Amino acid sequence: MNNRKITKAIIPAAGLGTRMLPISRAVPKEMLPIVDYPAIYHLVKEAVDSGIREILIITGREKNSIEDFFDYSPEYDKKLLASGKDDQVKALHDICDMANVYFIRQKDAKGLGHAVGCARAFVGDEPFLVMYGDDVIFSDTPVCKQLIKTYEKYRRMVVGVKPVPMELVSRYSSLKAELIEGSENEYYVDDMIEKPGPGQEFTNLSILGRVLLEPDIFDIIDALPPGAGGEIQLTDAMRAVARERGIIALEFEGTRYDLGSKLGFLMANVAKGVEHTEVGEEFRAFLKEFASTLK
Ligand code: UTP
Repeated sequence: MNNRKITKAIIPAAGLGTRMLPISRAVPKEMLPIVDYPAIYHLVKEAVDSGIREILIITGREKNSIEDFFDYSPEYDKKLLASGKDDQVKALHDICDMANVYFIRQKDAKGLGHAVGCARAFVGDEPFLVMYGDDVIFSDTPVCKQLIKTYEKYRRMVVGVKPVPMELVSRYSSLKAELIEGSENEYYVDDMIEKPGPGQEFTNLSILGRVLLEPDIFDIIDALPPGAGGEIQLTDAMRAVARERGIIALEFEGTRYDLGSKLGFLMANVAKGVEHTEVGEEFRAFLKEFASTLK
């Protein structure tokens, strides 16, 4: 049994983002904005708010803007300081200083499982979080913190799940899950399948965006053949663990937006736009007016 504390998170962000073409050719989907902050900022912030300080972002070619975002920018500092905007400089520096953010490249986008495999040296011999780079989740308690709490209770790998409409399960994964006695949102899982075909679904519980893994997952990933879509699938590695020793699914509290999809991108911007301190009020007025013109 692994009693070590969770101190590390990895954020795979090397996928090609074909669902967001053509913009993803030039802008990594993880850098798409929710109003004025890129998606990946929210992930790093969630990790930090969950007590994590060591974060590895797995990037790829054409993704340098992710690294730049977490670095100082003397040009902006100079310009802002000259016009007395010291707090804006501080706010920009705070983004860079909120965690120790490291980067490694996945040289070939062979799938999420393969991307996680690139983090072996960073992770070492500790349990760790994986935050899917295009999944932004807004919640009262940071989702990583929710997963850590469940992990500390059961000391088994934990996957964050949500029920999805049955007709959409084929886009995600399906878990063979049974509610744990005495719990309202934790399930025991002993099997799962990635992108199930018709009739292959276990339940409508799908893994969405956050998982907490143990380091023996790396040997399993290394031995995996390509799975759904010809990719090395993280779900296939987690399935091996579920079948062998069982894992826990946590139905987390929070609203998830998939910034890797056009609809998710739009919904996140509307939801956060109306709350925005600077433009929220005007945007809300615009939306009301605009909605009244919709047929
Ligand atoms: P997705 O399956 O949503 O990413 O992976 P994708 O392959 O880029 O998507 P589409 O279908 O082509 O639009 C979830 C997360 O895993 C990362 C992605 O960047 C995303 O943040 N990922 C995926 C990698 O880091 N490497 C990969 O090889 C695949």
